[in-house]
Amino acid sequence: MVLNSSIRYVDDSLIIDELNITAIVEETGTPVYIYSLKRVLENYRRLRLAFARLRAHLHFSVKSNGSLAILRALKDAGAGFDCVSAGEIHLALEAGARGEEIVFAGVGKTRAEIAYAISKGISWFNAENVLELRYINEAAAEAGVDTVRVALRLNPQVTANTHPYMATGHGAAKFGLTEDVIREVLARQDEYPRIDFSGIHIHIGSQLGDNAATLSAVDKLLRLIRPWSQIRMINLGGGLPVAYRFDEAIPSLDEFVGTLASRLRGYEILLEPGRSLVADAGILVAEILYVKRQAGQIFYIVDASMAEMIRPALYGAHHEIVPLRKTDGEMIRAHVVGPVCESADVLARDRRLPLLREGDKLALLTAGAYGMAMASNYNARPRPGEVVVDGERWWISRRRETYGDLVRYET
Ligand code: LLP
Repeated sequence: MVLNSSIRYVDDSLIIDELNITAIVEETGTPVYIYSLKRVLENYRRLRLAFARLRAHLHFSVKSNGSLAILRALKDAGAGFDCVSAGEIHLALEAGARGEEIVFAGVGKTRAEIAYAISKGISWFNAENVLELRYINEAAAEAGVDTVRVALRLNPQVTANTHPYMATGHGAAKFGLTEDVIREVLARQDEYPRIDFSGIHIHIGSQLGDNAATLSAVDKLLRLIRPWSQIRMINLGGGLPVAYRFDEAIPSLDEFVGTLASRLRGYEILLEPGRSLVADAGILVAEILYVKRQAGQIFYIVDASMAEMIRPALYGAHHEIVPLRKTDGEMIRAHVVGPVCESADVLARDRRLPLLREGDKLALLTAGAYGMAMASNYNARPRPGEVVVDGERWWISRRRETYGDLVRYET
């Protein structure tokens, strides 16, 4: 849900769990990301429960939100982590995860990253290149590690129902290995004496609009591994969608699990959810700097931009935007735009919003996934702070960057 049990209106004020958001941002300033730990953990438990029949292990996809406070909370709740770089492995370890709770994916792992991951004893590599296998085998030998577990990532050549930039399982994608390559690798696995090929991985895309492509990918995967009884672990990747629009329906999770359950019986199942755990637990709060009326339009120019939240500019993504204080005044149509010098710097186009004034504050909803994680310093904008709310407590879990931070790495 877009507004939910954590982020909702009480007496016309937008609150997060028990706290008034206006009171928080009066102290922190804007723009700022705010997350509800309670909502993250509810999402985690909901997913755990939905996948209980598969006894699935959930590995949170760190790329969606690398906030240590969130990683720690998920770790304490029992989650593992899906990392796509040595940097993300570092974050997971910083959050207290052990190597064996981490899986390492990525289409272009460097040899240094492979060696680092092995030195940390990570539990699975999701491998996507034949040469990568040689690198893993060599790195294991160098480190004196007898066995490294590898799940080959299958590119099932199915087209996911999602934005083209988020589809990864089609034939033209750089991701994964096609069936023929996987068969060949498995037939010649003796060439990699330190690798235990006992897993297989798919991830066909993110924000999947329906389950059809996943089910057809799973069927292909099962046909492929049938002759190889050594493969006991199936990693289904991430991709579970969330509602970004007030009226958006998303496919039923129970139905999905029900269809998968009979097919996957007997396998160890791993999942890599990102968005479905954190998206609706986070908001980005911005202040209206100017109300500009021009050429028959109204622009709310706010202090957040595509630098703080790139999803609308990059994917044409829709995020609902609501005022921190509800008014029952006039409703108008407005564009919500940022200060960045790009025509793409539009957070919301032609939205029905209340007539607001300079100084009023807005919350961009469902911003907990791929928001701060994709923020940049474009236009020399210091990245925003992050606030974590835990019941009646809140704290700044990451401070807003300073101008000093902008030149910190100059030599
Ligand atoms: N596993 C793999 C191998 C992935 O590539 C991804 C996401 C995930 C898991 C987590 O997927 P999720 O559960 O979050 O759908 N920046 C885009 C999304 C890109 C997703 C990349 N891979 C966005 O803002 O929507």
